Amino acid sequence: MDITYRNAPANEPERQYYFIEEARKLVQKKSEELGRQLTYNVTTFGCQMNARDSEKLRGILDEIGYVGVDSEECDFVLYNTCTVRENANKKVYGRLGYLNTLKKKNPSMMIALCGCMMQEEDVVARIRESYRFVDLVFGTHNIYKFAELFYEALLSDGMVVEILKETDQIVEELPVERKYRFKSGVNIMFGCNNFCSYCIVPYVRGRERSRRPEEIVSEIEGLVSDGVVEVMLLGQNVNSYGKGLEEDVSFAKLLKMVADIEGLKRVRFMTPHPKDFSDDVLEVIADNPKICRHIHLPLQSGSTDILRKMNRHYTKEDYLALVDKIRARIPDIAITTDIIVGFPGETEEDFLETMDVVERVGYDSAFTFIYSKRTGTPAAAMEDQIAEDVIKDRFDRLLKSVQELGAMRATAHSGETVDVLVEEINRQDANMLTGRMSNNSTVHFVGGERLIGQIVKVKLVECKGFYYIGEMVFD
Ligand code: 5AD
Ligand code: SF4
Repeated sequence: MDITYRNAPANEPERQYYFIEEARKLVQKKSEELGRQLTYNVTTFGCQMNARDSEKLRGILDEIGYVGVDSEECDFVLYNTCTVRENANKKVYGRLGYLNTLKKKNPSMMIALCGCMMQEEDVVARIRESYRFVDLVFGTHNIYKFAELFYEALLSDGMVVEILKETDQIVEELPVERKYRFKSGVNIMFGCNNFCSYCIVPYVRGRERSRRPEEIVSEIEGLVSDGVVEVMLLGQNVNSYGKGLEEDVSFAKLLKMVADIEGLKRVRFMTPHPKDFSDDVLEVIADNPKICRHIHLPLQSGSTDILRKMNRHYTKEDYLALVDKIRARIPDIAITTDIIVGFPGETEEDFLETMDVVERVGYDSAFTFIYSKRTGTPAAAMEDQIAEDVIKDRFDRLLKSVQELGAMRATAHSGETVDVLVEEINRQDANMLTGRMSNNSTVHFVGGERLIGQIVKVKLVECKGFYYIGEMVFD
């Protein structure tokens, strides 16, 4: 170990600030040699958690002195990977081949991989063997050590690999580069203890750990003073927030504390589990107009039999009763969901139960997934894996139903005037803006760039299926 390491503080996050500084010196030197700034590109695969992690990785790279660019033809490429379905893994391997050709043109280019996929042993073995041009590999548990690992990779000739099996560390207060200046994700907990039988997340993200409420509130207060008006509270299963903490705090209490933060205009959260969606949470949402009128409530399957095999701990009837209760208390709420088609043993009857729930609930929108076998999960070892053509047929029928019902529900708001958070200039027409309603629907309307980040009143003139065309209303 060289002198630099001996001087490094033992405590976090001070240790990482030390390595940011050391890396910055190296980068500055290299940059002077080259006569230009060094550039980076971070690509995120997967969920909101990963998106938030990528903001932290970018924040550190900015501090080190790299400049973010859109292209992968740059000096440092980082893939923050997902492994929830096999497809996500395939994409990464495919793109690595392309990165190799780029690296041949620019030998000083560095390539790093992190995130959920790296927590799988066979993935790391394959990268070590067949993708030797990769410079740095780390996982989900040591992401907070990025500055230190990056510094090590800068000095090393070979591949630096560090994967931890578990951690009880929660290290925050590191630099963050937010994608949007007016909204932000906020982690409230990490990991998952549910062990749904198809899901790899508990194996790659580890056991559930909640952040202390005062830390969350203070982070959000900081964000608000930095111009943020909307936060999305993030966790794999937000309903079980608070378990294991010394203080007596539940997700309902946390939601209330966050909604009470002055200056914050909107609160969203992702993802609740239907098995423990408490009445308290429902009451807090109903009482707080700041909490957005949108609940993402993953169904996964409408068949009680399949739900049992999935280890979901609710029945079709429980789920429908919960939806009824939510709608009775908050009639204008949008409900969206995730559904998996082709879980092992799924019969046509089981599938029709799913279709039945979709029709009865009338989701505002739904993410539909083809079951993907993940090695190491209980479902991967189950008999009766379903044939591809059967799954494809069911998937198409489900998608059609979800789309038709979603489009029908969307028309219900035509003519209303609603609050819209302006998010960006419309990608097709630069004279228009795109914003989001409390229920998560998007609206396009004529307006100027200076409104980005503000909440404005918009009349919904025309529904185009999944989005609205609106007109700004001045009062
Ligand atoms: N196959 C297909 N979809 C999956 N999901 C999680 N694991 C799998 C899998 N093995 C879906 C679930 C979850 C969403 C994030 O991804 O629907 O809610
Ligand atoms: Fe997110 Fe799960 Fe994918 Fe990890 S594996 S990025 S937690 S969806």
